[in-house]
Amino acid sequence: MNIIKLNAIDSTNNYLKDLCKNTTVIDGTLVVANKQTQGRGQMGAKWQSIQGQSLTFSVFKRFHGLHIKHQPSIAFAVSIAIKNTLEKLQIPQISIKWPNDIMSYSKKLCGVLIENQVEGSSIVSSIIGIGLNVNETEFPELPQASSMRLSTGAVFNHDEIIELMGNEIQKQMEYLQGDNQLALKSTYEASLFRRDMVSTFEDAEGSKFNGIISGVAASGELLVQKENESVQSYELKQIKLLF
Ligand code: BTN
Repeated sequence: MNIIKLNAIDSTNNYLKDLCKNTTVIDGTLVVANKQTQGRGQMGAKWQSIQGQSLTFSVFKRFHGLHIKHQPSIAFAVSIAIKNTLEKLQIPQISIKWPNDIMSYSKKLCGVLIENQVEGSSIVSSIIGIGLNVNETEFPELPQASSMRLSTGAVFNHDEIIELMGNEIQKQMEYLQGDNQLALKSTYEASLFRRDMVSTFEDAEGSKFNGIISGVAASGELLVQKENESVQSYELKQIKLLF
């Protein structure tokens, strides 16, 4: 695996994006930063990390003629790879909170920011950014967050996690390119957080409602069975799972 270790950078996703402008980046290159000063999260949010405790890294993946309709499968494959890795490391009760937060019990351990480079109707490459809470012992301002250490009581080695994670991402990406989109979707759905149980959601207008997560559409939208109604699909900006 081609690993680039940086002491400090604004964002490992930005670093790979810039690298792609000037060079031909090797498929599978993984960039890890000891300190990330402007980590980016989903929907324009900031991603906070603690130097020496959190892991912040990005993987560059090149595709050969992957149709844009398979964009959701990249997120499915990455979530599955992270889940598999954390299970190998014996982290308990791992699930995927749609679209791709990785949970242990009901707290968030890991966030994912995937940025795809598209040409015409093909995805040519992806930058897969991963923020993983590893050895943190407290999250004073984030009551919904946890770390691998808080979930298990054990302290983890960053290099070992990186090695396992890089290999598992590569494996799931090969599986994705082998025309296994349907299988990836089923595995992803089987791992969904709060699947098949009544949950409370909030829509974009701030209205709360109850529903049951039943899966995801091929487009990646979340499928929710609302009380006395048919199944409805939601994009990321349209719905928030409260509890
Ligand atoms: C989320 O909002 O849950 C996604 C967080 C993704 C954070 C990671 S840390 C490494 C990479 N670089 C970034 O700037 N963001 C991602």
